[in-house]
Amino acid sequence: MPERPVGVKGMRDVLPPESAKWQFIEQTARRILECHGYREARTPILEYTPLFARSIGEATDIVEKEMYTFADRDGRSVTMRPEGTASVVRAYLERGASQDPITKWHYLGPMFRHERPQRGRLRQFHQIGAEALGVDAPTIDAELVAMCWRIVERIGVGAPALRLSSLGCATCRGAFRAALVAFLAPRAPLLCEDCGRRIEQNPLRVLDCKKPECAAAREGAPSTLDVLCDACRGHFETLCGDLDALGVPYAVDRALVRGLDYYTRTTFEITSAADGVGAQNAILGGGRYDRLVEELGGPAVPAIGFAMGVERAALAIPGDDATYVDPIDAFVVAIGEGARRWSLAAADRLRRGGLAVELDHRGGSVKSQMRRADKLGARIVIVAGDDELARQAAKLKVMSTGEQREVAEGELLSAIRHALGHGGG
Ligand code: HAM
Repeated sequence: MPERPVGVKGMRDVLPPESAKWQFIEQTARRILECHGYREARTPILEYTPLFARSIGEATDIVEKEMYTFADRDGRSVTMRPEGTASVVRAYLERGASQDPITKWHYLGPMFRHERPQRGRLRQFHQIGAEALGVDAPTIDAELVAMCWRIVERIGVGAPALRLSSLGCATCRGAFRAALVAFLAPRAPLLCEDCGRRIEQNPLRVLDCKKPECAAAREGAPSTLDVLCDACRGHFETLCGDLDALGVPYAVDRALVRGLDYYTRTTFEITSAADGVGAQNAILGGGRYDRLVEELGGPAVPAIGFAMGVERAALAIPGDDATYVDPIDAFVVAIGEGARRWSLAAADRLRRGGLAVELDHRGGSVKSQMRRADKLGARIVIVAGDDELARQAAKLKVMSTGEQREVAEGELLSAIRHALGHGGG
């Protein structure tokens, strides 16, 4: 027996009926994003490696340990995108930042991080995200955070909680760094090897290290919220007030740090305590990155964005995958050779009329064709045998009521639409 190929570790197939749940999540989120003015941007999966090192940060777990990086055939180092923000900013700059003072884009697609796979943590995972470039005002923070809350509500994430913080600007960061280094230095021996090194290089990263020894050692660490300058405090307080006014519930989290270096001011995360969700309970995260465009060689453009993990959202919403599959509208059962071609043509006509229609190409007995119709959840079954065809008609059966009647061939589409409640046309 030839050996069967297996999929790459940490990368999964999304097959029916699970894919129906994904489509529901994607379509719902997309609709809400479009309602908020975010248009779709599609960027390539591969980027030149320095883009991520410069934006996400050299001393982050993502850049140090998790990127799929390799030399392209022409020798240049490329990386499979571990997230979408850096690519969006790169595309924004290449297009010409000055084309529009406000740019609102959304995206959807696979991201790659070589993490240790577990429930809700994959090496290829999918994000739905959005980035708004060009606006400094805290109302856009409130609009974006509220939009995230609406997405999570609308797709039905179980037991969601929104946590909010501010990392401040470069000025606040200087004061915070000094306080944090002073706090961490005496605790250096308790930290993991990476964090011991990061105290000097990038102390903020010690705050989101996943190792238990580091979580214990940083208890009582100072918070950026303690050192915000007046402007950053004002921005944060306005945001909190706006969210209150919008009726979006949140908790200010003094210890919220995000695993990417580009953040300034607002940061947030939505977690879920739903049963299906494991330890990886962050469904969505985001924040402001007011310095990134400039750091990548562009003008000073403030920006904010978020990304939601589709795998984690799927674990956090209720219902069997199968409940997300749309039942088909109609199934055509053909009895006898004469009806075979007729059923093919009838299905074609009904599909051109916008209905979801199936038939059983294997033929077989009426009983086995009816079983197939049942399995596919057909709401209407059309039965055509030689007798009906001779009268240029077919039998229409409404599965929910068992009601049956003969319908003239030319009336089939409108009769089915009527029976489905689509109106008489
Ligand atoms: P992030 O927090 O690294 O942020 O990822 C956002 C979401 O992606 C997480 O909350 C999680 O749901 C999902 N996610 C991350 N890693 C994995 C994984 N290995 N397996 C499954 N799901 C995962 C960002 O990526 C930022 N770019 C978000 C952002 C946009 N900030 C500003 N704009």
